[in-house]
Amino acid sequence: MVYIPFPVSATILLFFLTAVSQLARPAKLNEHVKTIPMAGPFENLPRGTNCSIAGWGCTVPGDNSSVVSRLREVDVEVLDDDKCTSAFYFPMLMLCAGRPQEGKDAAQGDSGSPLVCKDKVQGVVSKGSTSGTLPGTYTSVSFYNDWIKDTMRRA
Ligand SMILES: *[C@@H]1O[C@H](CO)[C@@H](O)[C@H](O)[C@H]1NC(C)=O
Ligand SMILES: *[C@@H]1O[C@H](CO)[C@@H](O)[C@H](O)[C@H]1NC(C)=O
Repeated sequence: MVYIPFPVSATILLFFLTAVSQLARPAKLNEHVKTIPMAGPFENLPRGTNCSIAGWGCTVPGDNSSVVSRLREVDVEVLDDDKCTSAFYFPMLMLCAGRPQEGKDAAQGDSGSPLVCKDKVQGVVSKGSTSGTLPGTYTSVSFYNDWIKDTMRRA
């Protein structure tokens, strides 16, 4: 696999480690391996949009031994930007999602997993909560759409 990092200035590199991975061989598509469309540029997801996250991360927040060997999925919804209060949350570049009142969120080990809304990849898990009670933050695929496409063309 080849990682092609997003070129950013040193100051913001600390915050946004965005990369595209290239498979060593083309994937063989079948019933279990499929492609999914990615969000177009400037797609705005209204608050309350239903999404799902899939990943192999922890199912008990803060317990690293609770990572799973079978892919798990959880339903979350898009939340207002002001629900994501982390200093590492940048509204234009990111999405805020979760079901904090139900303890549903991405967790340790889910980073890089897809946030799928309306049959498109809209986000990539950036940081889940460690307690399950805060919303998770996602890199916006829509924001990076042009860069992802350019990078794939040049690879
Ligand atoms: C999201 O899903 C819930 C049920 O899980 C449903 O009650 C709600 O209306 C859905 N919201 C939207 C915006 O489709
Ligand atoms: C869980 O793993 C992460 C990453 O390897 C580490 O930073 C963290 O300290 C670990 N947490 C516990 C409770 O062991």
